[in-house]
Amino acid sequence: MRELTATVLENKKIAEEIFSLTFGAEEIPPVRAGQFAMVGVEGFPLRRPLAVCKAEGERVTVCYRLKGEGTRRLAARERGEKISVLLPLGNGFFVEEKEKRVALVGGGVGIFPLISVIREYVEKKEIYAYMGFRNKAALCMQYEMQRAKELVIATDDGSVGYRGTAVQALMENIDRVKPDVILSCGPTPMLRALKSAVAGRNIPTFVSLEERMGCGVGACLVCVCELTNGEHARVCKDGPVFGIGEVNL
Ligand SMILES: Cc1cc2nc3c(=O)[nH]c(=O)nc-3n(C[C@H](O)[C@H](O)[C@H](O)COP(=O)(O)OP(=O)(O)OC[C@H]3O[C@@H](n4cnc5c(N)ncnc54)[C@H](O)[C@@H]3O)c2cc1C
Ligand code: FES
Repeated sequence: MRELTATVLENKKIAEEIFSLTFGAEEIPPVRAGQFAMVGVEGFPLRRPLAVCKAEGERVTVCYRLKGEGTRRLAARERGEKISVLLPLGNGFFVEEKEKRVALVGGGVGIFPLISVIREYVEKKEIYAYMGFRNKAALCMQYEMQRAKELVIATDDGSVGYRGTAVQALMENIDRVKPDVILSCGPTPMLRALKSAVAGRNIPTFVSLEERMGCGVGACLVCVCELTNGEHARVCKDGPVFGIGEVNL
């Protein structure tokens, strides 16, 4: 992990309330799919955790939804301004050699870490992506998602693509696709629905959690989650990716 003083290269709106921020710095360390950055926001002591969508050479892109004051202030940062970033953080998603068919299930801002999975594995694996959005206005990153072998866009209101959730879209296709592994990120109710939908199917399934964070590096314990064996784990350091049976959702 490094602490970088990065320069904003681009910070633009890409969908309703969604922004894409690209920053540059010298000596960006290698970033694995599913890892995240802690991005500094002027006026706040705590940085904000954001999944890395793309890391290419000396450029990194994160995407964020306007939520509270921190992300609103971030949206006001302009090209050429400096931001403080910790990178890379967390364990990330890992696909084993023997796992050829990879299903992705994303909802809301949970699609962003899955974009990095598509980028890392698209040449080596067959990727089947089921990506859920609130509606057409929230849809973004199509050009990245379209690189998957199969892509189903799902919207709650049916304003584009499949009408329903990303989990429902997966389950309509799962017997045909026969994924070797399922990787998911999204709101907790979506992860719970995924857990019960795939129960008993014996498909390794991993979820990335979006817990509230303080330090992002394992020191403050703000992000602790409960494991099914009764123990606890730090989402920032031991996760954010866990086996779906490992965590209490
Ligand atoms: C590993 C990880 C990856 C994430 N990736 C993305 C992403 O790619 N795109 C995106 O839009 N959002 C992502 N989030 C959620 C994002 O961090 C929060 O939406 C953001 O911190 C809200 O900050 P705020 O100041 O605008 O909101 P406020 O609600 O005002 O935040 C107040 C405090 O709570 C924390 N907080 C609030 N909501 C969350 C949350 N859901 N998760 C973690 N901390 C939170 C903030 O960091 C801040 O310290 C991710 C969260 C985690 C843990
Ligand atoms: S955010 Fe501080 S320990 Fe995880």
